[in-house]
Amino acid sequence: MSSHGIRKVVIPAAGLGSRFLPATKVVPKELLPIADKPMIQFAVEEAVASGLDRIILVIGRGKNLVADHFHRNFYMERMLEAHGQGEDAALIRQLCEMAEVHTVWQDSPLGLADAVRSARSVVGDEPFAVILPDALIDAPTPCIGQLLSCYEKHAGCVVATQAVAPQEVDRYGILDVVPMPDPCCGGRTLRVISLTERPQPGSTVSLYGIFGRYVLDPDIFSCIDHTEPGLGGELQLTDALHLYSGSRPLFAYRFDGVHYDAGSKLGFLEANVAFALKDPALGGPLREHLAGKIADFSHSPLDLAV
Ligand code: UTP
Repeated sequence: MSSHGIRKVVIPAAGLGSRFLPATKVVPKELLPIADKPMIQFAVEEAVASGLDRIILVIGRGKNLVADHFHRNFYMERMLEAHGQGEDAALIRQLCEMAEVHTVWQDSPLGLADAVRSARSVVGDEPFAVILPDALIDAPTPCIGQLLSCYEKHAGCVVATQAVAPQEVDRYGILDVVPMPDPCCGGRTLRVISLTERPQPGSTVSLYGIFGRYVLDPDIFSCIDHTEPGLGGELQLTDALHLYSGSRPLFAYRFDGVHYDAGSKLGFLEANVAFALKDPALGGPLREHLAGKIADFSHSPLDLAV
């Protein structure tokens, strides 16, 4: 185990997914596939690759299938083996063996902070990580692993950040930061002094957004208890972290990687293209198909305008 000793990760998956209707009326957003894997599997694999093998899935009404993805399906395994598809049988079995998966229930989707608080009894009094499954991050080192390395040097809470476009600040929690007195972590760590959930463009002093990865101190639970519902009437984790930052150390780590907001329709399509292009089996044929499509578009611009 690494020196930070963190093994637990909370993965909230109890939200409504209303930005992705009608697809998410029945099917949980977290099960929509990116190339050939559901989003939730990316989150669990990122955790496991970073040494987090105690997974706490937060689910709610209509979200049991998200947990089922990590339960053995003996019938399917037997059928696959009987049809000579032993590799596929192994694939779906390994999925259930890579980590210890617990589920906790969020009664109603009252916001991300409430979802995190739902995991309190399983997390206990120890630091833990949080991964949002619809924030897909393609990174050379898993993003949550990058944050854990930063946490080893800076106890407190750590959030993942990157600069966003000025017109897009209203899609993110935005940080007000100051540089660290001593450059450390390759100059990637910043000290956070305040946070605002989805502010209006033009109203912020910084463009550093929060990108769906957190390492949290258990004191965050009492901050959540003292947080009032915020934007959209939801209990916002950004607001609870703002309260935390008033008296305790909060850091932001400028992670290395590309983020896709796969909870939005466009971000989902972008993530699918990016991950499928990297896939050894899908990448070649898809590249050829896309090149053909682009050629069609550039030859007939009038068709596009119709
Ligand atoms: P999002 O805000 O992206 O998801 O939350 P949402 O609320 O499901 O989506 P929209 O805005 O209605 O389209 C990020 C993650 O936090 C979970 C979501 O399931 C998602 O994985 N979440 C959000 C909860 O578990 N509970 C909540 O109350 C809110």
